[in-house]
Amino acid sequence: MDGKFTKNAKTVMSPNITFKKLDKRDQIPYDLLLLADPSKVLVDGYVMQSEVYIAVQNEETLGVIVLFPLINNAVEIKNLAVKPAFQGKGIGSYLIDNALKVAALNKNESICIGTANSSVGQLYLYQKHGFEISEIKKDFFVNNYPEPIYENGIQAKHMLVLTRQL
Ligand code: ACO
Repeated sequence: MDGKFTKNAKTVMSPNITFKKLDKRDQIPYDLLLLADPSKVLVDGYVMQSEVYIAVQNEETLGVIVLFPLINNAVEIKNLAVKPAFQGKGIGSYLIDNALKVAALNKNESICIGTANSSVGQLYLYQKHGFEISEIKKDFFVNNYPEPIYENGIQAKHMLVLTRQL
């Protein structure tokens, strides 16, 4: 995949970044996956059945995106995370753009992603990439996580599912 990524139409970091699919022998970057999904039980429930892609620069894994196959030629982004020191530099957008390309190449017709009502920045990011709210899973985070989760001063209660046609 093209190694360049841009933010506000400018290249913001060295472009020698690649989008790489992990194979079954590669180490799973749990440190990153747990940034996006604090439940290792839930991560383990989907990661082995998914395609895991990473953004790599100079052999350092900067970010990860996990594509889980659904029925009816659809795929779900189950996890998306960028190393904290590299956030806000366009890598999340780079991962999403490349995930859209591989999902389309794999003959999927739609792609979705779920996020919390409190994940304001993420909701912005996904809508900027053409995803639209398609479903609300009421009380998903209340029912599936042992402790209450707060972000931006708001409790994460409901999962908003956003979908984009490919
Ligand atoms: N708050 C506000 N704005 C944000 C946020 C945020 N948390 N995250 C991204 N944005 C905005 C950026 O300002 C930028 O806007 P601009 O293009 O208008 O300047 C745009 O979104 C793209 O930002 P990137 O730099 O491409 O995003 P980044 O590399 O930081 O990756 C990500 C975004 C993956 C959400 C990262 O911040 C992260 O790893 N967060 C912690 C884990 C997480 O929340 N993952 C998503 C959970 S949902 C899921 O996994 C299915």
